[in-house]
Amino acid sequence: MTAGLGVHDFTVVSNEPVADGLARIVLRAPELAAALAPGQFVNVHVPGDASQILRIPLSFSHADAASGTVEIVYAVVGDGTRRLSEMAAGEASTAVGPCGSPWPAVGGAGRACVVAGGVGITPIVACARMLAASGVAFDAVVGAQTSGRLWGADALEGLGAGTVAVTTDDGTAGRRGFTTDALADLLAAGDYDVVYACGPEVMMAGVARLCREAGVACRVSMERMMCCGFGACGTCNVAMADGTYKSCCKDGPVFDAEEVAW
Ligand SMILES: Cc1cc2nc3c(=O)[nH]c(=O)nc-3n(C[C@H](O)[C@H](O)[C@H](O)COP(=O)(O)OP(=O)(O)OC[C@H]3O[C@@H](n4cnc5c(N)ncnc54)[C@H](O)[C@@H]3O)c2cc1C
Ligand code: FES
Repeated sequence: MTAGLGVHDFTVVSNEPVADGLARIVLRAPELAAALAPGQFVNVHVPGDASQILRIPLSFSHADAASGTVEIVYAVVGDGTRRLSEMAAGEASTAVGPCGSPWPAVGGAGRACVVAGGVGITPIVACARMLAASGVAFDAVVGAQTSGRLWGADALEGLGAGTVAVTTDDGTAGRRGFTTDALADLLAAGDYDVVYACGPEVMMAGVARLCREAGVACRVSMERMMCCGFGACGTCNVAMADGTYKSCCKDGPVFDAEEVAW
């Protein structure tokens, strides 16, 4: 179990849309904010429907110990996240955390590239914040289906990313194509020690393949359906390349891409 894991009360500070189908919620939860490391996640209880007993696993983009707040950007995809989007400032609930393993830091004076697809941007912004705080230079690729669903490129620029390559599937912003198209160019031109990626599994499989071909280390943040969120129920298995399984919630969500059976 993750050190310091516990149930934390929170109050909603703000909760507003930031793009089509995406919203940003800021929670006040001082102990949780101080305990979270980039790449970990929280398991949020959304009140109001007694039939929904499962919490919602969510990564965070910023855990700020100074203000005692946790910022989460989330996609509204089903009933739980729809009800989350309806929580107003001042409403209270609980979150379990810190859950899972953080992004590993780059050793020495390396250079990194972060790659976000869709709402995978959330833990990638936290990763960029970690890199900026430790003085590691980094570039970024941010992709979405269409311009209206893009969020986070400005945040990554503000954190000091060198190049921020934007891609959209339909070409309505940045380069038309996938994040892997832009990453392939950056890998050819850059000199990276590590790539950090979060997005749809098919994207992460592509990122993992490009990194393997380029001889660059790759860390991915995986998603699975989760019940407990702390290693007790066995619902969140990730198949490993060696034929074993690891739990996404406790052993992950961050994995070495080479370990994963894509
Ligand atoms: C470690 C982790 C971190 C995550 N971080 C974020 C985040 O920062 N922002 C964000 O928007 N989402 C994140 N997710 C996904 C988020 O948990 C799901 O979108 C959410 O649980 C859906 O709940 P719902 O009740 O709204 O939808 P449901 O009605 O339960 O499902 C709607 C759709 O989403 C799919 N779905 C549900 N749960 C998951 C899941 N855990 N993984 C993949 N697909 C799922 C369902 O199969 C269905 O297609 C994360 C998931 C994990 C495991
Ligand atoms: S969600 Fe229960 S073991 Fe991972």
